[in-house]
Amino acid sequence: MYYYKRKKIKDILNKNVEDYQNVTVLGWVRTKRVSKNIAFIELNDGSSLKNLQIVILSPENFPLDEINTGASLMIKGYLEEVQGREQDLEMKAEEIEIIGESPEDYILQKKRHSFEFLREIAHLRARTNTFGVMNRFRSKMAYAVHKFFQEKDFNYIHSPIITSGDAEGAGEVFKVTTLDLTKLPLNDKNEIDFSQDFFGEETGLTVSGQLEGELMATALGDVYTFGPTFRAENSNTTRHASEFWMIEPEMAFCNLSEMMELIEEFIKYLFKYALEECAEEMDFFNKWIDKGRVKKLENIINSDFGHVTYTEAISILENVEQEFEFPVHWGIDLQSEHERYLTEDHFKKPIMVTDYPKTIKAFYMRNNDDNQTVAAVDCLVPGVGEIIGGSQREERLDLLKERMLELEMDLDKYQWFLDIRKYGTVPHAGFGLGFERILMYISGMGNIRDVIPFPRTPGNAKF
Ligand code: 4AD
Ligand code: MG
Repeated sequence: MYYYKRKKIKDILNKNVEDYQNVTVLGWVRTKRVSKNIAFIELNDGSSLKNLQIVILSPENFPLDEINTGASLMIKGYLEEVQGREQDLEMKAEEIEIIGESPEDYILQKKRHSFEFLREIAHLRARTNTFGVMNRFRSKMAYAVHKFFQEKDFNYIHSPIITSGDAEGAGEVFKVTTLDLTKLPLNDKNEIDFSQDFFGEETGLTVSGQLEGELMATALGDVYTFGPTFRAENSNTTRHASEFWMIEPEMAFCNLSEMMELIEEFIKYLFKYALEECAEEMDFFNKWIDKGRVKKLENIINSDFGHVTYTEAISILENVEQEFEFPVHWGIDLQSEHERYLTEDHFKKPIMVTDYPKTIKAFYMRNNDDNQTVAAVDCLVPGVGEIIGGSQREERLDLLKERMLELEMDLDKYQWFLDIRKYGTVPHAGFGLGFERILMYISGMGNIRDVIPFPRTPGNAKF
């Protein structure tokens, strides 16, 4: 008897089995059809979108009444080739053991449920076709991310989840504390006295591993993070999650244009990986989520990304007849409607927008010679909008200090960040790719809640 070393249905259907006799499969019932002389069970074990068809030749000898959709079974039997069907292997059952029954109120019956409804039962939705595919895809693409960077000799670093800083300076940090919230200690300025808190200072969940990435890049050369990231921003959109996974490469001895080459190579690598290594998933998305998805990805692989500076982008937008909800002028932060116009209507492909006004970007970005803009880049793509934000970093100690003072930041608190500019500073650059955003882009899924198993969004942390 074996459980863990069972044959997986994926391998069986690929005929990756030595012996067609004496096969044991374990899985969950997707459907059951019983007639007088024959019965069929579609069994799925999570290894593939495809089910194994189980044929029961003398139904009266098996406990079919007790087997409902969702039940887990162990089935022993033999495999047989069948002609003229999409799947050319089926299994004739000799023994069926019910491992776990499933009462008839099991909600995932054969009918289709809406994605909205499935989000409410996220504890079960991975058992559906769509979310089975999605979760296997997510796992494979996470591996592709590592493969890309490991093949380039980047070091995978683990940046901390609990931090005392706000790397983006946007004030979207979830607090981490062990203070008694009903009896907060106050200092003589009547502020909360965090010196009495667990870490002796105010802490929160990381909004980005970048600053630590910079520390490591200026020691190891090329590094990347790939981990959970948290933002307490109250945006209830289809593209924002309060907890998402970000990939943040950081390269020493690198400028903005070299980094943009890496970005384009990285995105195209992920696309190719999806098309070549995730054929079952891509076929599914192409058929059920967005018809023509595969063709779109192939087109992107075979063409160059567009390039435009922020200033050029503003003049493109200013010349558009159509009214935007947010009026356009130099200095505004691009809103999603502007980003979408640029990438979907004007360029009709992925674009890199560079050299944003320093006033709308983070403190660490490198000042350009015009003293108005910084060496920033956002990568915008049709359908999703921003998938990447990055920049060359300000490596000149005096200019960085000047900018931080302008923004009234506490230099003492960032002494460690300034130190790497003080001792052997180098030009360096890095970017952040939202993992869920790229999954949306590749799969064509329209809502970030459907590309992460258990989404966290405002008002929602169930499961
Ligand atoms: O543009 P962002 O805020 O940049 C940074 O955090 C930099 N520290 C990155 C760096 O230079 N190392 O975020 C980067 C990307 C965005 O382009 C987006 O893809 C994703 O992270 N992102 C989100 N994804 C889902 N939900 C959210 N709330 C997100 N916020 C950002
Ligand atoms: Mg951004």
